[in-house]
Amino acid sequence: MKKVTKAIIPAAGLGTRMLPISHAVPKEMLPIVDLPAVYYLVEEAVNSGITDILIVTNRDKEAMENFFDLSPEYISVLEGKGRVEAADRIRRIANMANIYFLRQKEAKGLGHAVGRARSFVGDEPFVVLYGDDIIFSKTPVCRQLIDVYEKYGKPVVGVKPVSAEQLTKYCSLKVESLPGEENVYACSDMIEKPKPGEEFSNLSILGRVLLTPDAFDIIDNLEPGAGGEYQLTDAMAKMAREGGVSALEFEGDRYDMGSKLGFLMANVTKGLLHEETAEAFREYLKGLIGKL
Ligand code: UTP
Repeated sequence: MKKVTKAIIPAAGLGTRMLPISHAVPKEMLPIVDLPAVYYLVEEAVNSGITDILIVTNRDKEAMENFFDLSPEYISVLEGKGRVEAADRIRRIANMANIYFLRQKEAKGLGHAVGRARSFVGDEPFVVLYGDDIIFSKTPVCRQLIDVYEKYGKPVVGVKPVSAEQLTKYCSLKVESLPGEENVYACSDMIEKPKPGEEFSNLSILGRVLLTPDAFDIIDNLEPGAGGEYQLTDAMAKMAREGGVSALEFEGDRYDMGSKLGFLMANVTKGLLHEETAEAFREYLKGLIGKL
């Protein structure tokens, strides 16, 4: 079995739920305290053993490339001011992994974005971290998926139970329990954005999947699905029906950075942990709660 060392972060969506800010600032660059959302995805991948990461972007998202690059002028200005620690932090970010960028020329859907990565991936299994979904967990979720892949040898989708309303916006999975497993299921079908009555279960894919390279032939032959977009779920549904897919109910809290509420919740969570803000922010929130 080949080791999983590659990851794709599709981040070329238009981000219409975050308008008007996303018109000028990529939603992946919106801060969670002092780091952009995309940083947390790269960190999760790196902490899972991933060495090579392809970020799928578009022409309006150069800020992401700049963030993972080094600006020698900026570094020397910082060092000149004695801000050695800040300079080192920027250097460490630039050296976290081999990070590549590829432009999806038209936003034709998540499946289409992943399909652009075929030559990057080659003949290896790979992880996809959906660019909107930040997950804080004890064990990085990518690692949790890789562990399941190494046990069962099939593609793995990261799932959670969701509300009936969320189900119609995400997808629904047909699953059966596996002997001796508490949170891993055998998945034999799935449906993107099910209409009421079409759903299989309340389990939905949230932000992380691990795919095998045969996914690319299926993606290349996709027809436009829900919303007229090439849906990754439709490709994974075929894989589930034909060879089977593992579904892992992962441990971790997920924040949808593509939504205003998710953005706020991620900032409150991290703001309460960040060494520069934790104490004062906690006091501020306590005062605020009294007024609610
Ligand atoms: P979403 O559908 O949640 O992102 O796609 P979006 O299209 O940007 O969101 P809204 O609905 O307009 O607010 C899930 C992930 O897939 C990426 C997005 O960037 C997001 O991380 N994506 C989506 C692409 O890379 N390309 C696409 O064509 C569509």
